[in-house]
Amino acid sequence: MKRKAEIRSYPSLPELSLAAAEFIADLAEASIKERNIFTLVLSGGSTPRLLYEELARQPIAKRIDWQKTHLFWGDERYVPKDNPESNFALAFQSLIAKVDVPPANIHRIVTESRSAHAAAEAYEKTLRRFFRPTAGSEEDTYFPSFDLVLLGLGRDGHTASLFPGDAALEEKYRWVVAVDGASASPPVPRITLTFPVLNKARCVIFLASGSNKREVFQRIVNNPETAPYPAARVRPSGRLLWFIDERLV
Ligand code: 6PG
Repeated sequence: MKRKAEIRSYPSLPELSLAAAEFIADLAEASIKERNIFTLVLSGGSTPRLLYEELARQPIAKRIDWQKTHLFWGDERYVPKDNPESNFALAFQSLIAKVDVPPANIHRIVTESRSAHAAAEAYEKTLRRFFRPTAGSEEDTYFPSFDLVLLGLGRDGHTASLFPGDAALEEKYRWVVAVDGASASPPVPRITLTFPVLNKARCVIFLASGSNKREVFQRIVNNPETAPYPAARVRPSGRLLWFIDERLV
């Protein structure tokens, strides 16, 4: 039985970002206390910038043991890492450059590959090595459990780079796939985690802000089984929380 989503609503994006940062610091402390590691999947787009800045600001920054925190990405645009559209660039400028996370703990999606497909294959290899160093007998049904996956919500109901109607929505075995991103903004090829991976997370947090996402948000949380949006298919075995601003209520 999937747990019901927990919805936390705030008057503004700055306030929801601070609340999410405090929640993440609590989760990091608990994960590291329990398993001596905190695996955090970052999201892209514009919404999480304030959250990342809050995670890099005291007193929250010093509550997180960055030496035991590993950063991953839920999706990436197939652009160079210093391109303004890069999700890595967003996280680097707003968070990574300001905290002492070891370079070995930063597991970015390498987009200097010959194609988005090659980048997706390489990232899956990176994840398999991290989660199953003794890869060897890889059964198809094994998927990694991240401690926390951050996700955004597109106005069309996409999340990560899982867009409406894309074949990637039906992926059952691969951990990471490439999509053409033609309907995305910017319309560039993307690399994205798949639903089997997102849904193995111990905790998933959606950050959503802006009245233009209200209808999609309402349909997803009120009718997750029937809402025709990719974000509605995020039903993790762990906790699912939405940090939203009041314009979505
Ligand atoms: C991306 C994101 C994407 C984003 C949504 C919401 O690479 O664009 O991963 O899924 O979270 O499009 O974007 P905004 O936060 O800019 O509204």
